[in-house]
Amino acid sequence: MSFTNFPVGDQSSATLTSLPKVTIPALAEMKRQGKPICALTAYDYATARLVDENGVDLVLVGDSLAMVVLGHDNTLAVTVEEMLHHTRAVRRAVHRALVVADMPFGSYHNSTTEGLANAVRFVKEAGAEAVKIEGPRVELVRALVEAEIPVVGHLGLTPQSVHRMGGYRVQARTAEAIRQLRADARALAEAGAGAIVLEGVAREAAEAITAELDIPTIGIGAGPGCDGQILVFHDLVGLTFTPQPKFVRRYADAGALIRSAVERYREDVEHRTFPSDAESYHLPAAARKTVQTELDNPHFDDRDGIVNQDALLDWEELTQA
Ligand code: KIV
Repeated sequence: MSFTNFPVGDQSSATLTSLPKVTIPALAEMKRQGKPICALTAYDYATARLVDENGVDLVLVGDSLAMVVLGHDNTLAVTVEEMLHHTRAVRRAVHRALVVADMPFGSYHNSTTEGLANAVRFVKEAGAEAVKIEGPRVELVRALVEAEIPVVGHLGLTPQSVHRMGGYRVQARTAEAIRQLRADARALAEAGAGAIVLEGVAREAAEAITAELDIPTIGIGAGPGCDGQILVFHDLVGLTFTPQPKFVRRYADAGALIRSAVERYREDVEHRTFPSDAESYHLPAAARKTVQTELDNPHFDDRDGIVNQDALLDWEELTQA
């Protein structure tokens, strides 16, 4: 059992509920005003809450969770059920930011009908406010928008295409490929996408696309010229186990922090210095005396029971500092 729950209505979440909700139109307005959009992934309640409380505009429940949370080699294995499960947790935490759910590989590749049905699940069952799909799937974007489901597109290095790309490589490296990327971005925007993630492309290409679209671009490994930036939460805080690509800026070393905490805890348990007396619960004096009497006299028989009603620890007492 852990008492690290997050009581509803505490100060920080109350402040957040009074802030205007970030919506797809609000992102477009930010672009118009030249205000940078700050986006980050999150996959669970605690981190999503910290991300939201610190003013991030868009929280993406990315299929990168396959790698950073579930330990897969790539994003392909994560299922709709797993993505729904994590989206629900994030949804419970986030008050202000726009919650976007990534549609996992295979959930929209067979047909528009199937993609639409799965997207509806993210909105209806998990509370997503938009879905993200990879690639220039114009017909699907149109169908989703017609069904009132906001869509974020994703172009450039699309991790679900890892096998076709032959690895994670910077995309659109020729003039022809950049022309195609720009055409794809325009087509997604015309189909009604609310924003486009540009991943792993030259900054010049991202800048050109950003300049010609009315909808915001959100870059990852696409340079500073996009309307916003997104990073994977675990990369940002140093909770990854492999060397990071150069576009990642590590703002904290949570790995080192956690290692040190676990090591100190293990040592305290091994040396019996945890828990201390102050971290232990005590019986009321009368019950303590009864216990002592029984310990001193194994034939002692207290038919009322040694831990009577007065000795029962209630919730309030357990949660006292
Ligand atoms: O899954 C993910 O985390 C993403 C972002 C990197 C854009 O798609």
